[in-house]
Amino acid sequence: MSDEDLFQHVVDSWPHLAACAGLDADAFDLTPVWHRIEPDGQRAVFRAHGKGRTVIAKFDTQLGARPFEARLAAHLAARARFAGVRGLGVPRILAASVPARALVMDFIRGRTAHDAVAAAGDAARRHVVLSDCAGWARHLHDGQLGQKGAMHYRGQLQRVRAWRRDAAEGEGTVAAPRAFVKAADRAIAAMDGASGAPVPRVPVHGDLGLRNLMIRADGTVLGIDFAGASPQPAAADLSRLLTTYASFFPDPREVTRAAAAADLREAIRATEEGYGKVMAPGLRPLMWFDLLKLWQAVPAQAGRRDDFQARRLAGARRLAAVLDQD
Ligand SMILES: Nc1ncnc2c1ncn2[C@@H]1O[C@H](COP(=O)(O)OP(=O)(O)OP(=O)(O)O)[C@@H](O)[C@H]1O
Ligand SMILES: [Mg+2]
Repeated sequence: MSDEDLFQHVVDSWPHLAACAGLDADAFDLTPVWHRIEPDGQRAVFRAHGKGRTVIAKFDTQLGARPFEARLAAHLAARARFAGVRGLGVPRILAASVPARALVMDFIRGRTAHDAVAAAGDAARRHVVLSDCAGWARHLHDGQLGQKGAMHYRGQLQRVRAWRRDAAEGEGTVAAPRAFVKAADRAIAAMDGASGAPVPRVPVHGDLGLRNLMIRADGTVLGIDFAGASPQPAAADLSRLLTTYASFFPDPREVTRAAAAADLREAIRATEEGYGKVMAPGLRPLMWFDLLKLWQAVPAQAGRRDDFQARRLAGARRLAAVLDQD
């Protein structure tokens, strides 16, 4: 589907979606907020404004019906968990269409946690945002009756071993292959060492990066874009939060290596503190996995990396160095 087709789908779906949401479709103007066309998915987020009201319409056109329903169910379940909670939330769904793979929800007046971190100015303020985001995750997970089973990291180990093999064989598939192999060995050791420990599984957010949390001017933290994952260790959400942080912050052009390491160490501490007294088990093995996943997805040749990818690689390597010294 091209940009044009995607936008046409949005325009074609809007009258029905608006009617389901109890809105007068013709009174609203649609403005694209964000869209992404990739082999693995085509998504578009539109803002609809009219009659003094603003809503968000999100389209996930290539998602299967089942995963779409699972995401919707995860969003609705989370919304119920946060009902009446001050300072934390999930936007209300106004309409959903499985055939159109579309959701209409309340527009959040605020910015993403990523933008809040970028605007924070110094490390201490950046870490307050992380801590607040971890507090949101804690509320999502807390008191959920999860099955407690031994965690074996089988899928993760298999993937890390495959990436390591390619890097070691010099296939030119991974950036900084020697450092990658070293990090992969540490990751394998961390996962092996933690393997077999009983870890409760809870309904996690599933994609809790800094761009999937939004912060209103009054400080309220809201989660969006639920991946609807099956029950996982709570640490999966915190690992995602910290690895997306490290993939962009602190700006490698602005800090020394030592200052960056101190920032990341403090970021982990602030996240753990924001999450609560009892740390989600298995955070470190999952962080090793998530950082290698980011690393191996960066183009191997320096000349083929854009600025974001270069920054992501630098961040993954710095986080590996920090975890290595833990
Ligand atoms: N309810 C909302 N209120 C305000 N802005 C929103 C809302 N939902 C989404 N957005 C904006 O649109 C962006 C993309 O939304 P979302 O994360 O749901 O889409 P996505 O395509 O799945 O994103 P990604 O691929 O980055 O995970 C958000 O980062 C946010 O800036
Ligand atoms: Mg998102």
